[in-house]
Formats: sequence, C-alpha cells, structure tokens
Amino acid sequence: MASGINADSFSNEAERTRARDVVFEALRRIQSPWDIAWDQNWVNPAINAAVKTLIDAGVFKKWADEAGGSPITCSKLAELTGADELLIRRMMRAISGQFLVQEVAQDTYARTPWARALAEDPSFSGMYGGFYHELNSQMFRTLPFYLRETGFQNPTNVNDCNFQFWQGDKNANMFQYVGTNSRLTSDFNDAMECHSKYNLTPWVDIYPTDTVIESAAKTDGAQPRPLVVDIGGGKGHDLKKFLVRHPDTSPGSLVLQDLPDILRGVEVCPAIKVQPHDFFTPQPAESEGARVYLMHNVLHDWPDETARKILQTLAPAMKKGYSRLLIHESLVSSVKPLSRVTVSDITMMACLAAAERSEEQWRELVTSAGLTIVRIWRPVQSVESIIEVEVA
Ligand SMILES: C[S@@+](CC[C@H](N)C(=O)[O-])C[C@H]1O[C@@H](n2cnc3c(N)ncnc32)[C@H](O)[C@@H]1O
Repeated sequence: MASGINADSFSNEAERTRARDVVFEALRRIQSPWDIAWDQNWVNPAINAAVKTLIDAGVFKKWADEAGGSPITCSKLAELTGADELLIRRMMRAISGQFLVQEVAQDTYARTPWARALAEDPSFSGMYGGFYHELNSQMFRTLPFYLRETGFQNPTNVNDCNFQFWQGDKNANMFQYVGTNSRLTSDFNDAMECHSKYNLTPWVDIYPTDTVIESAAKTDGAQPRPLVVDIGGGKGHDLKKFLVRHPDTSPGSLVLQDLPDILRGVEVCPAIKVQPHDFFTPQPAESEGARVYLMHNVLHDWPDETARKILQTLAPAMKKGYSRLLIHESLVSSVKPLSRVTVSDITMMACLAAAERSEEQWRELVTSAGLTIVRIWRPVQSVESIIEVEVA
C-alpha cells in the first residue's frame, strides 16, 4: 500500500515526521506485546551489533567505493573486505530482515539511503559504536539498578548519579571522563556533529541572524566585539552554519568555546577563533559584550542548580540592551511531547542527572539567574526552539 513512499515524498520535514508517527502508531497497534518486547530486547541489540561489525569490516564503504554501490552478493562483499563469507551472509541476512538493505535476488542485496549514508558520512557511521556503545548504552544498562538503589528518586546531582554508579567512583562527571580519553572525545564530538546535521533544525533557520549582523554594525562601532560566541560549541558546527549563511563575517568575530580537552584537534576555518574556556569561570575579557552568546544543548546537560550557576557566570559579560543569549534547546510540551525529546530526557537523566525542560521550567531557570526571556522562536514540528534572553 505504501510501497511507493519514501523519505523524499514529503514537501517538508514537519509532514514527513507526522507521517512517520502515524505509521509508527499503526505498527504498535498491529504488534502483539511479545512483538514489542522482542523488538526492544532482541532485535535492537542484535542488529546494532551486526551493523557495527559490518561497518568495522568495511562493508558499506567498500561496497560504495570499490563496487560502485550497485546490488552485490555476499561472496563479493567477502572478497572486497577479506571477511568470512558465511559471517557476512549471516549479518546481511539479519539487517535485510529489518529492511536496512534490500534483498533483490538470492544472496544479493541493494543499498537503501541508510546504507548509502553509512558509506558516505563517517560521523553517521560513528553513531554505531564509539560514544553510543561505550558510554550511552552502558548508562542505560545501569540506570534501573541505580534508580532502584536510590529508592526511585529523581536524580539531580551530576557528581553523584548513575554515571558514577556505573564507574564505581565519584572522581569525575561524564564530561570530565570523556575529556580524559582522546578517542572518546573525538567520538563524542562526532556524535554531536551528527545530531546537529540530521536531528535538528539549524539555528540560523530559526533565529533571524541578519538582525545580529545589522545591529552589531550599528551598535559596536569603535570597539569591535565578538559577533557570536558559541559556548560549549564542540567542533564548531553551529558557527560553521552561521558562516555558510553569512560568508563575509570578519575573521575572529566568531568564537568557539569549549573545554581544552574537547577542543584539542578540532579544526576550524580562519573566521572562527578557538578559545578554550570553562563556563563555570567568567568570560575572558576579549569575549565580553558579544552580540550573541549561543548555548546549544548545553544547559540540558545540567541540573537546575548547576545550570543557574552557568547562566549567572555568563550574565556579567553580557552588555545590557545589546547582548543576547540564545538558548537552543528542546521544550517538553505538556501534551504529547515529541518522542525525540522524551528519549533525550531519559538520556540526560542516565548520563548527567539532568533533564529536558518545559517552557515553564525554562522561564523559572532563566529568571532565577537574573535574566529575562525576550522571545521564544519555535519552528513548526522541530525538535528544538531558540529561547532569546537578555539581561533583566
Ligand atoms: C551536548 S554537547 C553540545 C555541543 C554543541 N553545542 C552542539 O550542540 O552540538 C555539550 C557541550 O558542552 C561542553 N562542556 C561541558 N562542560 C563544559 C564546561 N565546563 N565548559 C565549557 N564547555 C563545557 C561539552 O564539552 C560539549 O561540547
């Protein structure tokens, strides 16, 4: 019935997401309770393991680069990768059963857009393994045991939560731990870049960035100040989006801040100045009075008390009537919140004793830090909004 439909059949992302939700709800009605439990506890772990193995063996990459991406047999894939043919066949059969590749003849498979993306985008294939397998999945495994041990209390202490329960030691929170391992740091940065690429509406499509440039030219005049400071900006992907939209931005007027360990090895273009900075300390003098401070998916990593400290530490650097803080985050709706947001909420709980917030909770947090909300920019059916904030 729906065989002619694919992800390109919709005129916009909102329509595609609505259609996906309708189909998913229908699937749930068709599934028996056993089907659901089977999918969640057998299928997802088994298929993730198969996909990761195929990625590591080079199947998707070599299928594209050395066989042109056309339909292929398992013996050819084994020849290309040097892996055992029987192993490849078992893995390919398993992922074909999930419609991740298409069986077009006996033992012969065609690529889907998902299989193509695994070949073309290293940050997408990085979703399997790395940060998600080594850290996130471990967090989900221990979470129920941790919560049972705490008498089922809502966790709020980033330095004593499920993360430390998993580690068996209270010396580091998740970010500190990630920073001590260069491979995990790079995987983490890739994972954030991947979210930014596929999961979210770019901030420059939500907030009118033309106004940033216009008002900065008028107000800043003699003493140039940074245009945009991306606080906790990871690899700088959000600043790159700004540059694509405004390619004439003067060099150095975009500032990328993050912890030194996270910024190590990050490559950016000359327009972006990399500035190691811990947001629990005051802004460096040269980054005071910026037109925009951007915090994208930063505050959802922290419980209220800590998030308030981050905002209160930033506030003195903001020039009243001029600087704006853009908090690019999800808002949990009170009715039927988006599943991507509620899943992210449990992830924040598992890793950092943090949470996604409702509009009311964001208002309380911002106000309690001596700041005020100017406006909330909400794209239709997008996962995230932008909360525009100034000094009260
Ligand atoms: C969820 S990631 C978001 C990254 C990026 N803004 C994005 O949206 O893709 C949170 C970022 O906050 C950074 N971070 C954590 N603690 C920090 C601190 N004390 N000072 C500065 N950055 C920090 C992390 O290293 C990480 O890059």
